[in-house]
Amino acid sequence: MVEKKSFKTLDDLNCNGKRVLLRGDLNVPVRDGKISDTTRLERLAPTIRELANKGAKVIIVSHFARPKGKRVPEMSLRPVGEALAKILGKPVAFADDCVGPDAQQAVNAMKNGDILLLENTRFHPGEEKNDPTLSKEMAELADVYVDDAFSSAHRAHASTEGVTHFLPSFAGRLMEAELNALNIALENPKRPVGAIVGGSKISTKLDLLSNLISKVDVLIIGGAMANTFLAAQGINVGKSLQEQEMHDTARDILKEATSRGCKIILPVDAVVAAEFKENTATQTVSVKNIPADQMMLDVGPETVALLKKELAQLKTLVWNGPLGAFEVAPFDKATTAVAQEAARLTKAGQLESIAGGGDTVSALKHAGVLHDISYVSTAGGAFLEWLEGKILPGILALTEVAQTAAPL
Ligand code: 3PG
Repeated sequence: MVEKKSFKTLDDLNCNGKRVLLRGDLNVPVRDGKISDTTRLERLAPTIRELANKGAKVIIVSHFARPKGKRVPEMSLRPVGEALAKILGKPVAFADDCVGPDAQQAVNAMKNGDILLLENTRFHPGEEKNDPTLSKEMAELADVYVDDAFSSAHRAHASTEGVTHFLPSFAGRLMEAELNALNIALENPKRPVGAIVGGSKISTKLDLLSNLISKVDVLIIGGAMANTFLAAQGINVGKSLQEQEMHDTARDILKEATSRGCKIILPVDAVVAAEFKENTATQTVSVKNIPADQMMLDVGPETVALLKKELAQLKTLVWNGPLGAFEVAPFDKATTAVAQEAARLTKAGQLESIAGGGDTVSALKHAGVLHDISYVSTAGGAFLEWLEGKILPGILALTEVAQTAAPL
């Protein structure tokens, strides 16, 4: 568990006149050469503004996509810098490298309050190898390091972990907000606390399920993962996607949950179809009557009613993964209905709701409730690893530094 007091924040940093190396996560989604979602830039903007307004020279560093240690022009951060400048309403200078003469010259030209973006750290093979030479070169550009990239904190890379060994290090405002929200969700939640976990495979979420049954009072399982749990209990799930080889594991999870007093909720009815395509013919059936030639693609209305009743009892909800194949109508119905109910309870002050993961964020957007959830994490992999109970190297580094570095 990482408590706020265990790492330093911008409140502990006098940054006026200092060169601040700010690790953001500018790994924004791009479709047809255009940035399709600027959420990560918008969420980083308050930290940039605060540092610049306090007179820092703000040197932003980030990875973008997966160029695998080579300079790939299509993976340049330059267009992302332009989008960031628009959001900030301020110029953002750009340097063609994150270290070396280009970066040094650009930093030397900065005045207090200026903002500079350095080129993609992953153009250097040393980034993913956490090479201390690269970390040191980056550190030499600055006086202090601020990490605002929670969504990259599961990577022990030169710009997320290595650099903290060379500079006094602080959490930015977004990192602080993410850690506080996750702390509220799982470490110090108001009880009862429930989790909704969806997605297709138990095998990819095994650690997450095992950790959650030890933390939450109610675990709601949806998505294709639920099919495996049902099949493991002897229910015939027809043509539904499921993992035969995970049946023993599913039964173990159910047993362990019972012994820990964690109530597991599985679908009681389902929307089924013969094939997975838009507006195909569907039926709603009890999970006990799934026709052999049909597959479950969403949970049914009885399950939605049951989940709404459960949500009404909860004080805290953590959500990762949709309940059905929500990208294709009409299999979005249950996820949308439950998302809207979680949003309604949150707005009424009855529920603290925390959601994360790419699909979950898209599902909440689709349901029109993205802004009515208490906290939506910008992280994908890092959010999952946190839910798995793993210690994220980027966070650990901030904590260790907080214990050893002298206040500035
Ligand atoms: C993310 O988008 O989840 C982070 O930016 C990490 O990206 P990665 O999976 O390429 O390390």
